[in-house]
Amino acid sequence: MQRIRIAPSVLAWDLGDLDGAVDICKEGGADQVHLDVIDGHFAPNITFGPGTVKALRRRCDLMFDTHLMIDDPGRYLEKFIEAGSDLLTLHAEVLSGESFDELHSKIRRAGRAMGLAIRPATQLPSWAAERLDKVSSLVVMTVNPGFSGQTMDMSVMPKLESLSSMVRERGLATDVEIDGGVEPENVHEVVKRGGNVLVAGAGVYGKKDPVKAIGELRERAMKLGERE
Ligand code: DX5
Ligand code: ZN
Repeated sequence: MQRIRIAPSVLAWDLGDLDGAVDICKEGGADQVHLDVIDGHFAPNITFGPGTVKALRRRCDLMFDTHLMIDDPGRYLEKFIEAGSDLLTLHAEVLSGESFDELHSKIRRAGRAMGLAIRPATQLPSWAAERLDKVSSLVVMTVNPGFSGQTMDMSVMPKLESLSSMVRERGLATDVEIDGGVEPENVHEVVKRGGNVLVAGAGVYGKKDPVKAIGELRERAMKLGERE
């Protein structure tokens, strides 16, 4: 299994205090900062764009994991690269094999990594399964994209298990990232099924002590990881 990584989702914090959100990531020892970009088309919310990512980049050296929940990622990709995103995650629902190849080359040429996300109801398309070796992070969403604070959809677990096995059996270095409703109480459900990057919005920022919550998530996940 890949190393456990904790990725707080700043969407769950006060959006008027994103500096504070990244400070919590730094202080809590998070591995990456999960930045949810939503365009109001792909999902029913509007968050922030490349300007905000750029402003945060000046204040934080952690890996920026930019989750693009937007209909036309090709149109804005370069802006998010320039803004300083390290991992650019695009949704399979708005891509084809051809557009994946094109956008993947752009990302790699810029020296960044590409992630591929799927909604809870989406099965990994065959064009994506064929290209999994090019994907740095396979993001399995366990809530419908749009908002922080939803409950994890447990019906996604069989899919998570089979995708993790696919990654393992092929000997790929691809991370399996779980996004949606991750809490200390359900971390074991996703780690035992091969999830290794844990995105947590409310699971970090909704807690009384968000800095401590990052460490707690990691501790729980690692204990389980060792047992596997
Ligand atoms: C949902 C986003 C998630 C979300 C996670 O559209 O992609 O990253 O903010 O927040 P929680 O962990 O609260 O579900
Ligand atoms: Zn996300």
